[in-house]
Amino acid sequence: MAINASFVSPTADAKVAHMAASFDANGLVSMLMNNLSGWRLVLTILVLAIAYDQFKYVWNKGSIVGPMWKAPFIGPFLESVNPDFNAYHAKWESGPLSCVSVFHKFVVIASTRDMARKIFNSPTFVKPCVVDAAYKLLRPQNWVFLDGKAHVDYRKGLNGLFTRHALEQYLPIQEQIYNEYFKKFVQISKDNNGKHVPFMGEFRELQCALSCRTFVGQYITEEAIKKIADDYYLITAALELVNFPIILPFTKSWYGKKSADMVLEEFSRCAAKAKVRLAAGGDNKCILDFWVSAMIESEKYRQRIAAGEKVPDTEKPSMLIREFTDFEISMTLFTFLFASQDATSSANTWLFQIMADRPEFLEKVREENIAARNGDIHAPISLDNLEKLPWTRAVVKETLRYRPPVIMVPYVAKKDFPITPEYTAPKGSMVIPTTYMALHDPEAYQDPESFIPERWISGDADKQVKNWLVFGTGPHYCLGQVYAQANLMLMIGKASMMLDWNHQVTDKSEEIKVFATIFPMDDCLLTFKERDA
Ligand code: HEM
Repeated sequence: MAINASFVSPTADAKVAHMAASFDANGLVSMLMNNLSGWRLVLTILVLAIAYDQFKYVWNKGSIVGPMWKAPFIGPFLESVNPDFNAYHAKWESGPLSCVSVFHKFVVIASTRDMARKIFNSPTFVKPCVVDAAYKLLRPQNWVFLDGKAHVDYRKGLNGLFTRHALEQYLPIQEQIYNEYFKKFVQISKDNNGKHVPFMGEFRELQCALSCRTFVGQYITEEAIKKIADDYYLITAALELVNFPIILPFTKSWYGKKSADMVLEEFSRCAAKAKVRLAAGGDNKCILDFWVSAMIESEKYRQRIAAGEKVPDTEKPSMLIREFTDFEISMTLFTFLFASQDATSSANTWLFQIMADRPEFLEKVREENIAARNGDIHAPISLDNLEKLPWTRAVVKETLRYRPPVIMVPYVAKKDFPITPEYTAPKGSMVIPTTYMALHDPEAYQDPESFIPERWISGDADKQVKNWLVFGTGPHYCLGQVYAQANLMLMIGKASMMLDWNHQVTDKSEEIKVFATIFPMDDCLLTFKERDA
């Protein structure tokens, strides 16, 4: 047998050694082709791929702050599986623009107020990308993924659901949910003999129930709400910043997708029921009702016009909208749940913790809420009166500033994006503005690491509009921002009157856990008692 016909390593072969010594560049390719055995080919491709991955990273990084090298392919993927707030914070502090590369994604992080605003306000260059898994869970045709004019037009059609008039109609449902859940909190504490137990999970369920009832009213059953609330954390868990690119069975993304499908089906059924009830002349009680009524009104108007009637302008609906299918309605309502659930649960949790730890502010909230209801703690309150309560508003605003629920908002560069004269983020990269640094900027908010609600009463916090990035800014700013703040004011106002609660402070209480939004690391240990009237 000729030596070269063996499986021996080519470099250990006398003939090859001779070739290697006398090779010329022209012969290189043919030599490789002739002599590389299977595993060597694989190894060579791997080495070239690693080199390309590194080169691409260093090239994309350009002049901005970031590690010199990345771990081959995965980058800091394992760290992003267990996100650490302090690591994020260190990244934000490392420079106005910094970067990492995870798997195939190059990520640019914008930390300062002005850099963050620049991203939010550059719709020509970026669009929201949520996270990869969101397309699969919310469906790619979902309106939140629309861009440019299509997005603006769709959004205009939804504005009617969040007007002050509409928000006012949701208050009774919300009051009812708080009454039910506050009783439940007291019962949980009784069942635990007054012992402090983690309440973050309970708050998530409360906010899920509140959202479902506000969005789809009585069309949904108690059991379905319970199921959505129980399973919703699977959806959140599937939405880590970086996921494995395909949905493999029994992974977080797989469970998340199954839960999302269940919610979509449930909301579709609600839409079908609402269409029937409102066509029969039912009144508006929830967001779904307002939307379907607007569709019915628009259709009636179109029919009158088509019939040649001269309809006076006063009878023209303020916003003419098209008919939406049950599934389209469902997908949109799901985006409301998706957008509100984690953020509101986060604010809810911090608010209860912070108020328990600072009873002097809770007392002020309590006093003004009782006074606004003329001493009757069960009396309803209007939106206007609610928003006029200075301490209630101030503690909500300050909680949102001090512990902003959404610390980062992922966008994707649609084309090369010159963020500064010196740095251009390459097309396809994720560009992530952070809200946290602007909200903890000592130039805008003196002593930013302290909880100081007075800054919203006698200070100038309201004037720092450029720093107020809690709800984003630009064409995608939060559609539910008035709703969200009114809801939190209603919640803490009612809780202050109906409940006494105590927080067990641990060395983890002020540490921040990142679970899509942020929560106290110890999940907020509380105990509740009904308050004597
Ligand atoms: C404390 C609670 C909330 C916080 C902190 C919050 C924060 C945010 C942020 C930071 C964004 C991204 C904005 C941007 O890209 O500029 C956003 C978008 C959005 N939020 Fe909220 N949100 C909250 C509650 C809600 C609620 C209750 C709803 C609906 C009922 C809602 C609906 C939306 C929608 C639909 C969007 C996407 C808007 C678009 O792409 O045009 N949010 N929110």
